[in-house]
Amino acid sequence: MRIDIVTALPEIVAGPLEHSILRRARQKGLVDVRVHDLRRYATDKHRTLDDYPFGGGAGMVLKPEPIFACIEALKADAEAEGGAVDEIVYLTPDGERFDQRIANELSMKQHVVLLAGHYKGVDQRVRDVLVTRELSIGDYVLSGGELPALVVVDALVRLIPGVLGDATSALSDSFQDGLLDAPAYTRPATFRGMSVPDVLRSGDHEKVAAWREAERLHKTRERRPDLLGDE
Ligand code: ADE
Repeated sequence: MRIDIVTALPEIVAGPLEHSILRRARQKGLVDVRVHDLRRYATDKHRTLDDYPFGGGAGMVLKPEPIFACIEALKADAEAEGGAVDEIVYLTPDGERFDQRIANELSMKQHVVLLAGHYKGVDQRVRDVLVTRELSIGDYVLSGGELPALVVVDALVRLIPGVLGDATSALSDSFQDGLLDAPAYTRPATFRGMSVPDVLRSGDHEKVAAWREAERLHKTRERRPDLLGDE
C-alpha cells in the first residue's frame, strides 16, 4: 500500500512514522508512506502557501495552486507507474466521522493521498475538484489536519496483513466486530494484593473465550450502548 501525506508542516508528521509499528511496516516494505512539503510546490518568490479569505473573516486559507500542483504530480507519477491514486482524503472537522469501518475500507486501497489542511482550511476549489473523501477524527477542532492524518495512517497500516506479529490481533481489537475489548492482564499474577481472574490462568481456552466474550458485552453495554443498538 502507498500513502502520501500532503502538508504545509511536514515536520509534524515525520516523527511518528519513524517509530514502532509504523516504522516496522515501512521497513518490511508493507507500506510506502511519503510526506510531501507543500512549500516545494509554491511558485512565487516568497513561497506563499496561504492568503486572506475573500469576503473577510478571521484566519488564513491555504491557496489552491500549490495543492493542485502537488496532487496532480502525485497522480501523474502513479499513472506513469501503471497505477492510479484511489482516494484523495481531506482531513477536516466537517468531514464524515472516521471509524473502524472506514479504516477497514481504506486499508484495502492500493494508493491513498491524505491532505492536511491548516489555518482556516483549504480553498473550496481543492475540495470541489481534487478531494474524493472528507474525514473528521472527532467533534473537536485541532489546529490542522496533520495529527488527524497520522491517526488515519496508524489505523490503516495496522490492518495491512503482516504488519502485526499476531495475524489475529487486529481482528480482536475493540470495534473490529462492534464490541469493545476485554480486560488484559500480564505477570505478576498478584500485584499489590490484586489478583488476575482465575479463569485466565485455568488453561481452559473455551472458558477463557467465554469469559472474554461476557466481559466485552458487559463493557460495551456499560460504556457504549450505542454500539449494541440499544441506547
Ligand atoms: N482538522 C482540524 N480538526 C480536525 C478534526 N477533528 N478531524 C480532522 N481534521 C481536522
